[in-house]
Amino acid sequence: MNKLIFTHDCNIGIEIIDSQHQLLFAIANKLFSIQYPQEQNDKVLFLLEHLLNNMTIHFRTEEQILLKYDFPAYTKHKQEHAEILLQIQKALQCSDCMSKLLQNLDVLLNKWIKDHILTEDKAFSNWAKSTGLIKKK
Ligand SMILES: [Fe+2]
Repeated sequence: MNKLIFTHDCNIGIEIIDSQHQLLFAIANKLFSIQYPQEQNDKVLFLLEHLLNNMTIHFRTEEQILLKYDFPAYTKHKQEHAEILLQIQKALQCSDCMSKLLQNLDVLLNKWIKDHILTEDKAFSNWAKSTGLIKKK
């Protein structure tokens, strides 16, 4: 599976968010490094729980910042976070959901992490830069 690469365009411009994003990339890449995920359930479960815990912490941090800056699309962004967490929680609780998740692990991790950063988080970053709340780099 292809690894997630933290490219320059993934930078949001807020240090804590960027560091937490890099940690999520690292955990996702650990999952990608499992050669036969269907046969290594324990390892997959451990890393998915680890990802879920870190995403929960990260989303909370991000939501506090969005709220502090009074980001207009806060509610929509928060809902998207909740949906991502729900999909991981579901997979951890039901084996059918887990096998579907494993079949699409590549697509899902890209969607939950990199695509979310490049669309939703970036929309916040661009807005915050345009209003002068964070520095343009
Ligand atoms: Fe986000």
